[in-house]
Amino acid sequence: MKILLIGSGGREHALAWKISQSPRVTKLYCAPGNPGIAELAECVSIGADNISALKDFTLQNKIDLTVVGPETPLTLGIVDEFEQAGLRIFGPSQAAAQLEGSKMFAKKIMKKYKIPTAAYEVFDDAQKALEHVYMSRFPVVIKADGLAAGKGVTVAISLVEAKRAINAALKDKVFGESGAKIIIEEFLAGEEASLLAFCDGKDFVPMVSAQDHKAVYDEDKGPNTGGMGAYSPAPVVTESVLRQVRETIFQPMLDGLAKEGAPYKGVLYAGLMITSDGPKVVEFNCRFGDPETQAVLPRLQTDIVDIFEACLDGKLAAQNIEWSEAAVVCVVLAADGYPGQYTKGQEISGLAAAAALPDAYVFQAGTAKRDGKLVTDGGRVLDVTALGADIKMAIKNAYKAADLISFSGLHKRKDIGKKALAYLK
Ligand code: AMP
Ligand code: GLY
Repeated sequence: MKILLIGSGGREHALAWKISQSPRVTKLYCAPGNPGIAELAECVSIGADNISALKDFTLQNKIDLTVVGPETPLTLGIVDEFEQAGLRIFGPSQAAAQLEGSKMFAKKIMKKYKIPTAAYEVFDDAQKALEHVYMSRFPVVIKADGLAAGKGVTVAISLVEAKRAINAALKDKVFGESGAKIIIEEFLAGEEASLLAFCDGKDFVPMVSAQDHKAVYDEDKGPNTGGMGAYSPAPVVTESVLRQVRETIFQPMLDGLAKEGAPYKGVLYAGLMITSDGPKVVEFNCRFGDPETQAVLPRLQTDIVDIFEACLDGKLAAQNIEWSEAAVVCVVLAADGYPGQYTKGQEISGLAAAAALPDAYVFQAGTAKRDGKLVTDGGRVLDVTALGADIKMAIKNAYKAADLISFSGLHKRKDIGKKALAYLK
């Protein structure tokens, strides 16, 4: 079976690693891929958003299944285009991908199907938004409606901060069209968790839980990033929380989308706040999370290609999916300055030594090969991942591996997984 994977980050490296373990795969391509993925797949230099070139490649090379990593091609309708051409592709349709592509769409549908989430209002006028904020209880949360690479959200603790966020989106247009509308929503207090589920249009099977670390500095300080590390399982997702998430979030969302004529196939990612009032949705994403995937897939025992196919064929209910009991921690090594300005081209050393440690994996995110050397080429550079018998061991193993790697300006959080330790007796 020939598979094409689309994307170039750490999430796609983890997916390539898992897909290449399937005995059914005879050839794996990745567009555009990265140097880490190139060790597992043949990389083709087509951008992840270039849908027509991807479709031509898929037809010419008789690809049996395409797997989409990032959100942009999904929200641009890659699945619809491929399906119209008779191609098999794992991911939601453009209509269903709006759950991530438009926060307003997600909010409307959650309201309609009574899915617990923060109360909200939508604004396209800065003055009206400000007037709303004057009347609000702080903190308030201000979000760009469209895609903003995880950077479109401000949790404002003061009026000054709220004003700055409103003006940035609506007056200065820092998010372009993505910020032409903003959502101002109620702040949800609690601990966050990510629950991703395989979906086949009617049924869903949650993966093991994970927790992301969005802020750039330890103790959740500093601006939000795409994610600075993750671990699995997240003990805040107890059996009872999981049951509530299934019954009050995933089930009504899948039923609702089917009713709306946009049945959801692919991975549905629920970003959750576990509040004293139960789990509530912070956001939906229409794809595997990054870096959650790096923390979740090492626990997957089942052939992922079988799962993809069960989703496409509407046979998820009959698909066995097994997970290991191990804990996994993934520490992101970032370039100094990320999520703001950062430099590229710094030589990376120590990667092979880290990857050689037992139960450690180094997934590459923003890397490039220059003159035969591996150099930094993005904000998030490497995702150092390790398994352990429990979360304590996984943290120890992940940092042991991460500490072997260096490049000029390397920044990593030192507290990935720390929240889980509070649950240990
Ligand atoms: P989002 O892109 O919507 O997931 O938001 C990014 C991050 O902002 C989340 O992971 C939370 O840490 C925070 N956040 C977003 N919405 C809320 C909310 N209503 N209450 C508290 N924190 C929030
Ligand atoms: N880790 C957050 C995301 O994938 O959007």
